[in-house]
Amino acid sequence: MSVLNELEKIKEEGQNEISDASSLEGLESARVSFLGKKGKVTTILKSLGDLSSEERPAIGKKANEVRQFMENIINKRKKELENEVLKRKLEEEVIDITLPGKRSPAGKRHLITQIIDEITDVFIGLGYKVAEGPEVETEYYNFDALNTPVDHPARSLMDTLYTQKDGVLLRTHTSPVQVRVMKETLPPVYIIAPGKAYRKDVPDPSHSPMFHQVEGLAVDKNITFGDLKGTLEAFAKQIFGADREVRLRPHFFPFTEPSVEVDVSCIMCNGKGCRVCGGVGWLEILGAGMVDPNVLNEVGYDPEEVSGFAFGMGVERIAMLKYGVNDIRLFYENDLRFLEQF
Ligand code: PHE
Repeated sequence: MSVLNELEKIKEEGQNEISDASSLEGLESARVSFLGKKGKVTTILKSLGDLSSEERPAIGKKANEVRQFMENIINKRKKELENEVLKRKLEEEVIDITLPGKRSPAGKRHLITQIIDEITDVFIGLGYKVAEGPEVETEYYNFDALNTPVDHPARSLMDTLYTQKDGVLLRTHTSPVQVRVMKETLPPVYIIAPGKAYRKDVPDPSHSPMFHQVEGLAVDKNITFGDLKGTLEAFAKQIFGADREVRLRPHFFPFTEPSVEVDVSCIMCNGKGCRVCGGVGWLEILGAGMVDPNVLNEVGYDPEEVSGFAFGMGVERIAMLKYGVNDIRLFYENDLRFLEQF
């Protein structure tokens, strides 16, 4: 068989194998068997040098034509097969972009935690530090050091939760933290102490045996009652709104003298009188006063050198006023329908 005939035969063979190739792998092995280093076309091209100068031009031309032809149909088939692969992949991996997405439920901070963080931010902004103390407290820190007489009704078994151990109780307020901080540090002191407090109350819409307070204490040279009022005003405006006004009413606490209860102008009616404030136009938000000299003496401070103010607020009460929540028990029932609103 002449070389030209052979080339023609190879061309036909190649054409069939290439169009029959049903995968990219199959096509590649077909390519190797014709155009690879030892492929049929390559072998002929390599042997051109052995030919006589009469034969060479025609055979050379034909051999190159065949090679070119094969390259073309291989590339064409390759594209076809690649498209098939892509099409199959797309069909297998259909994504319906109109389906609703999966929303993973995100947790959030409890409203009480949010309010504590808000209050904390306000006082951090005023230069205060955050302090903490134990919830299981001694009678000494909870009452004695806070100038509370032994026969004070707050100490009674009716109001205070005592442990089995003598002189150990669940703190009834965050005020013992005042004493702990002052005993540990020299003035000036500017701290707030958020945390839980416990009282022997039967749960009802406005009472819970466990609740939260934020205590505040400032002791320095020349601290005055005016400083207390200004601080509380700044606080009330930031938490309840810039239009709020603050009113101080005389009150009594064993550990402050003078003592006050602090009202903020009603956040609903702004003082006109409505259902939320019971028609009086004011809402009570906290207790406060100038630190009693007896307390300063107890912690080793000199009342002639320094003075201070303290305040304590109920976090639940502030949350209830701010969001119109009418039952304190809602905060502890863990009903997501309630909690998710905040
Ligand atoms: N400890 C008081 C209470 O629980 C609040 C208070 C704190 C009052 C600090 C004055 C000063 O009611």
